[in-house]
Amino acid sequence: MRSNLVAGNWKMCGDSASIGKLVAEMKASLPAEPGVDIAVFPPSVYLAQVLVGLSGSPVAVGNQNVCDQPSEGAYTGEVSASMLADVGCRYVIVGHSERRAMYGETSEQVAQKAKQALLQGLIPLVCVGETEAQRDEGATLEVISAQLKPIFSTLSAEQLRLIVVAYEPVWAIGTGKTASPDQAQEVHAFIRALFSKKDELLAKGLRILYGGSVKAANAGELFAQADIDGGLVGGASLDAQEFSAICRAAE
Ligand code: 13P
Repeated sequence: MRSNLVAGNWKMCGDSASIGKLVAEMKASLPAEPGVDIAVFPPSVYLAQVLVGLSGSPVAVGNQNVCDQPSEGAYTGEVSASMLADVGCRYVIVGHSERRAMYGETSEQVAQKAKQALLQGLIPLVCVGETEAQRDEGATLEVISAQLKPIFSTLSAEQLRLIVVAYEPVWAIGTGKTASPDQAQEVHAFIRALFSKKDELLAKGLRILYGGSVKAANAGELFAQADIDGGLVGGASLDAQEFSAICRAAE
């Protein structure tokens, strides 16, 4: 069956000193053999530092974004999937709502990014989620379905088997307003049902993470839901004690 995954998205936070401290504290507080997969996503300029700092630990490292183009060349400011794989990344986040909202990423681009990641052996965490206005209009499931549509049309059945989906309601990100376990479970079950239309076995193996104000205090009840397979954690992942408590809640 699917194993849980707890991912820490550090966003654009930290400097070499604070990241060095966070890595050291994480190593001290996380179990040596955790019963859950763990990954962290530092700002890309600190990837090398974190990869070295966490080598030999069970924590995998990923980038918060990846270029949607297949080969290197004239793409100023971008980082390719092959470069991330080359330095030792295992995962990439694609389609975070902050990138969709602030940098205009479309669901088609997100699907291309996921494809480039997979072609280089990286696991994409594909983020989806509705805004508060969309939820109030009753459009949540429609929005999620539209965000995932290009994923289904762009990735092969084999590639779909490897991805992770993260449901992050925009209104719950960084607001302290977590989706209730029932609200989250409803959307997670819907996402799994979308995948089961493709293939029942694929849907059963798909890991669907919840993100949006996850903390040690609410992680247990969220992760206890049938279709929640771990979390994508923002703010709380910058605190080693809090993050390791969330990892333990997912074990
Ligand atoms: P917070 O946990 O800070 O709400 O952020 C969630 C998130 O956006 C993770 O990608």
